[in-house]
Amino acid sequence: MKTAIYPGSFDPATNGHLDIIKRASTMFDKLIVVVLINPLKSYSFTIAERRGLLEKATAGMKNIEIDSYDGLLADYFTQRSDVDVIVKGLRATSDFEYEFQMAHTNKDLNPRAETVFIPASANTTFISSSMVKQVAMFGGDLSKYVPAVIHKEISVRLKAEFEEKKRLAVLNQQDL
Ligand code: COA
Repeated sequence: MKTAIYPGSFDPATNGHLDIIKRASTMFDKLIVVVLINPLKSYSFTIAERRGLLEKATAGMKNIEIDSYDGLLADYFTQRSDVDVIVKGLRATSDFEYEFQMAHTNKDLNPRAETVFIPASANTTFISSSMVKQVAMFGGDLSKYVPAVIHKEISVRLKAEFEEKKRLAVLNQQDL
């Protein structure tokens, strides 16, 4: 029984993430998709929301588990003795340096934590969560970039966030 984990921010999950999830789930007996925190990023969705979106997007996929963790990935790996390997997607050479550094850091922190890379499918290489957020905030069509089942929820939520940002910006200007 081989179990892999697919870690990430998933803020929000996109068709790019689903591409990796679907393909990795055929390579391992079980795939645990873990929502983690990159403390250098600011997020639009809470951990619970990001988990919820992933749960909806992967509903019906038999060997997928969704989890979240607010510590080091290497420590998660240590706690889950059933996990064998970390899976990451690579969209372009620009991802490589960052992912290479993370893979080495994780292995240094926990020598059992090996990372395998899966090349993103060609039609998803330009998709990122930030790009999805920007398109949604300006009311663009997200349907090609995020799973249909979570499309509406993401659009509504991000539009509301953007409206609130604009409202605060106006208030701040009035304060001047
Ligand atoms: N298709 C489309 N987009 C993809 C993708 C794919 N196959 N793979 C990655 N992306 C995008 C994501 O949407 C994200 O886009 P964004 O930057 O616009 O938000 C970007 O690539 C990076 O994604 P991710 O791999 O989730 O990196 P991250 O920096 O957001 O999160 C963590 C990395 C959370 C896994 C990492 O910080 C972590 O392990 N945190 C826990 C603490 C820890 O252990 N830190 C030390 C690790 S060395």
